[in-house]
Amino acid sequence: MEKMIINGGGRLYGSLQVQRAKNAVLPLLAASVLTDELVRIREIPKISDAENMLRILSELGCGIVREGNDAVIDSSNAASHEIPAVMTKEIRSSIFMLGSVLTRFHRAKISYPGGCDIGLRPIDLHLSGLKKLGVEIVEEGGYIHCSADRIKGAEIVLDFPSVGATENIMLAAVKAEGRTILRNAAKEPEIVDLQRFLNAMGAKVQGAGTADVVIDGVEHLHGVDYTPMEDRIEAGTFLIATAVCGGEIEMSGVFAQNLAALLHKLRENGCKVYIKNDKIVLESKGRLKSVDLVETSPFPGFPTDLQAQYTALSCLAKGSTLVVENLFETRFKYAGELKRMGADITVRGRTAIVRGVRSLQGAPVTACDLRGGAALVIAGLAAEGRTEVLDLSHVDRGYGEFERKLRLLGAKVRRIRI
Ligand code: UD1
Repeated sequence: MEKMIINGGGRLYGSLQVQRAKNAVLPLLAASVLTDELVRIREIPKISDAENMLRILSELGCGIVREGNDAVIDSSNAASHEIPAVMTKEIRSSIFMLGSVLTRFHRAKISYPGGCDIGLRPIDLHLSGLKKLGVEIVEEGGYIHCSADRIKGAEIVLDFPSVGATENIMLAAVKAEGRTILRNAAKEPEIVDLQRFLNAMGAKVQGAGTADVVIDGVEHLHGVDYTPMEDRIEAGTFLIATAVCGGEIEMSGVFAQNLAALLHKLRENGCKVYIKNDKIVLESKGRLKSVDLVETSPFPGFPTDLQAQYTALSCLAKGSTLVVENLFETRFKYAGELKRMGADITVRGRTAIVRGVRSLQGAPVTACDLRGGAALVIAGLAAEGRTEVLDLSHVDRGYGEFERKLRLLGAKVRRIRI
């Protein structure tokens, strides 16, 4: 086990290049088995979720060559349609393998997926979408067995714009017979990135980024050399950290439109935000003002993946903030840890009332999920004195070289083994 020691209270200054998006890289890695030609995915972030996904691919029989930060995936010898249970427990995105493995082998076996402990996270929308495409699904002994001699295009209406279900259905439909129309699809930028990747392999997908995604099945998909989109959540995390600690940051390689909801809030908090091409510059001086309400919703709304970090910021702003989590049931577990640092938060179900305090005090705290862990790091950076964040493995799922990047901004952080 490792923990992060933070000596808080300093401002953050400097420039960072954002990593490639976890939530784009994971479905792209899953998609690499759609072809038996070589797939190169560039600049894979140094995060454990990506490593686990690569491990799943090698369990399926894919050859993986690492060249610097790139991964070259050769799935010409992939033979297994079974995603090992031990892997699916670790990483929820293993569920995307369902769509791509089905396309490749016409059958797939997977155990119920894991991931962050932030609520029930059912997969009913994935499964009902696949059924519409003619896939037979049998659930037995904790496993899901899928099979389809022929995958056939269909019209699918999602009850909710689930990111994972949208991506999985795209992966299952990409070589189906005929046209699939997916309505009420998720509009997240990572869906657009997946479309771009699939089309670069020879697929015919259009509409990603809107509520209707149309997939015309093709017979053959070929190899691709691809650089995934930027990690808007990592960028947002560093912007929030700088906003609450005070200072100035220049984040490069970001498309500001993908962070519009957060940037709007940060301006309301009193930060100055400038956008220059692919750069966002944020300046923060003095105590932030709270915003009355922040409510998570699917893109382009405020991202649930920045809710915890933004709540950490609100703990130190002047005034009260009502935080409403509309996507996941139990995404406030970190609030109890923030309270140990002196935060004034009341949580009821999916709602938290945060009353801003003048200062937080460093304390030993434990990360219980990925973004909640990032919120604790942010609180530690802004707090007086020493904070220890335990269970860093959660944070390592999504933030590559987190301490190195924080140190580049002048933060006093280090990691030690315990
Ligand atoms: C993805 C992201 C995650 C982000 C989330 C919402 C990846 C790897 N992960 O997760 O970081 O927090 O989008 O932006 O991209 N739901 C169902 N049935 C289903 C599927 C989902 O009820 O079959 C519900 C979920 O319980 C949740 C909501 O839909 O309440 C959103 O989930 P979804 O968009 O599917 O999130 P993920 O794809 O799991």
